[in-house]
Amino acid sequence: MSLCREVETEECYCDNKISHYIFSYLCKYSEKMKTKIDNLRRRVEDFVPQNVGEVEEFRIAVLGRNGELAALMDEFRTVPADQKRELGQALNQLKTLAQERVDGFKVASAQSTERMDLTRPGTADLAGSRHPVSIVKDRVCEIFTRLGFSIADGPEIEDDWHVFGALNFPPDHPARDMQDTFFITPDILLRTHTSSVQVRVMENQKPPIRVICPGRVYRNEAISARSHCMFHQVEGLYIDEGVSFADMKQAIDYFAKEFFGVHTEIRMRPSYFPFTEPSAEVDVSCQLCGGKGCAVCKGTGWLEIMGCGMVDPAVLEASGIDSSRYTGFAFGMGIERTAMLKYGIRDIRLLFENDVRFLRQVV
Ligand code: PHE
Repeated sequence: MSLCREVETEECYCDNKISHYIFSYLCKYSEKMKTKIDNLRRRVEDFVPQNVGEVEEFRIAVLGRNGELAALMDEFRTVPADQKRELGQALNQLKTLAQERVDGFKVASAQSTERMDLTRPGTADLAGSRHPVSIVKDRVCEIFTRLGFSIADGPEIEDDWHVFGALNFPPDHPARDMQDTFFITPDILLRTHTSSVQVRVMENQKPPIRVICPGRVYRNEAISARSHCMFHQVEGLYIDEGVSFADMKQAIDYFAKEFFGVHTEIRMRPSYFPFTEPSAEVDVSCQLCGGKGCAVCKGTGWLEIMGCGMVDPAVLEASGIDSSRYTGFAFGMGIERTAMLKYGIRDIRLLFENDVRFLRQVV
């Protein structure tokens, strides 16, 4: 087919109308092809694979036997002779570019696999660790369970009666100030000790009673290295006929030796709690200096670990237990404080931050 050479625009004065028509059609056609080549070139340039699979998909789609370049090559055959040169060059350049990019990505991914040492052991997941409070709580519970105590649980949101009233704190008595309380209403509050659980047990069970009550308690105190507004306690209660102060001393001595070690000594100092009479504070010989006196025990050789006492007859009566027949002892200790003494932790806040690097040191 011979085409009118002169015609480049619509304003063509060629006589050969048919060839002019075909020519202008082919001109537009090759314009379209140029656009197609440009578009594909842009896509090739912008292509960034996420993995080797995508490189191969790309190679098949662009350079494959039935790929986009092959289709353009087919189309190229119909391009007018005088445009073949320009379009042919553009096509060849595009083909080279696509091939280079595919090869480049393949080399890069091969190199990154080479750099990977498949014989190296994997990185272990950072496992959590048991919390010192749980460890101490379980240990205390286990020791007292061996002495025949069972575990009792109760609500953290309590009424005034179970936290104070039944435990011989008369209304407006200054002893209530011993424990700074978070009140929800004048009658409902966050328990300040787990003695409230002991009251619930006494109300619901008949002696002999032997329970320990671990749990969370709340006190409206400023947070510092030594105190927190939320902490944990384990309290114990033993009620039966003929329970004596000597029984209490024996049980606590056994606990101290089991928990802190066989050479641990205990001593009792008179104290006051509204719900026990007589009452005492229990000290254990300092774990760090063995009783000689050091910075931790402030030179005394002793560390305070719990409060205890014989249950006041008024407390037994308030829960419907015959105080002329039964006697009992009770004790209570802070779990955080005990953990701090046992593991030499200087700041109670470490037990609340839950930094696994700290937690893992306690086993
Ligand atoms: N309930 C007391 C407290 O929280 C501890 C205690 C319990 C003291 C039992 C004596 C007897 O401080």
